[in-house]
Amino acid sequence: MLKAKISAVGAWVPPRVLTNDDLARMVDTSNEWILERTGIRERHIADPGIATSDMAIEAARAALANRGTTAEDVDAIILCTVTPDHMFPSTACIVQHKLGVKRAWGFDLIAACSSFVYGLTTAAHLVGCGTHRKVLVIGSDTMSRIIDYTDRTTCVLFGDGAGAFLIEPAGDGEPGFLGFRNEIDGSGGDMLIMPAGGSRMPPSHETVDKRLHFVHQEGQAVFKYAVKKMGDVSAELLEELGIPPSEVKLMVPHQANKRIILAAANRLGISEDNVLINIERYGNTTSGTIPIATTEAWQQGRLKKGDIVLFAAVGAGFTVGANVWRWAF
Ligand code: ACO
Repeated sequence: MLKAKISAVGAWVPPRVLTNDDLARMVDTSNEWILERTGIRERHIADPGIATSDMAIEAARAALANRGTTAEDVDAIILCTVTPDHMFPSTACIVQHKLGVKRAWGFDLIAACSSFVYGLTTAAHLVGCGTHRKVLVIGSDTMSRIIDYTDRTTCVLFGDGAGAFLIEPAGDGEPGFLGFRNEIDGSGGDMLIMPAGGSRMPPSHETVDKRLHFVHQEGQAVFKYAVKKMGDVSAELLEELGIPPSEVKLMVPHQANKRIILAAANRLGISEDNVLINIERYGNTTSGTIPIATTEAWQQGRLKKGDIVLFAAVGAGFTVGANVWRWAF
């Protein structure tokens, strides 16, 4: 089997910033509470004219430009999101068309906060089996469209943004994909859910009046599950690959809550210096967190060729995922 490598990264967030003080004017909260309990100081929010595909296209363009290539010969687009422009057509189709990709297939991948890790796993296999040479994995979410800004327990957590990786074949001896461990656990489905809008509960006056088109969650249960599973699944994967946690140069976890990240890294035995945390400036952008954080790490020179990088996430479903790659550029 061929090996896949991450050949470029890119990100884009909308310019408008919503601070904790702004939120404190909307709901009963404070900058101190949000910062202490979540690690978030501000988040970016898309203006009304901006949808998930618009952010995805900007992030994809950035990744392609960083690689010095164009979109033309991309073979597949995996568009990770829980906030597609529409239920159909897929956001992947909209991105393909507007980006100018000539001959590709693609799809939307919905696995909440684990979507991007699942997208990476999928791309690694499409490239690894030799049938695809350029796969774009894009994580883009406009969470502000499904957040209830009267609910202080959810509205402080989320932001909007997008990031993208280009996945290509690795040459002989080149660093690339090492392995994955993904799990779904539907028993936790009610813990984090957007109840209405699907076939179970189609839109109606009642669903709108009851605010069922927004994110609902059992915050503490999600918190505990995320710490345990992000730590344990990552540990199992590293053990399977024979990589001691001390050899992980950078853990790029999904950014849901700074306390979740630190507790999971601690459970795993990875020191805080080797964990990428940028939640302070973006909040939880769902599918966007990992590619946005990785792009920042790369721009800051925190990633060198050959470094072992661990991507890990837990999200609604529950979905759990971890990927280990050697950094390739
Ligand atoms: N401002 C002020 N007070 C608040 C706020 C707020 N924004 N939100 C809740 N509180 C209050 C509660 O009402 C409660 O008050 P009470 O004691 O009078 O009842 C008190 O603060 C403590 O509430 P807890 O729920 O115990 O607070 P906790 O420390 O657990 O923090 C939080 C809540 C931030 C939601 C946390 O549980 C969390 O981050 N959970 C994970 C949720 C998550 O990340 N979900 C989305 C993505 S899934 C994923 O990515 C893993």
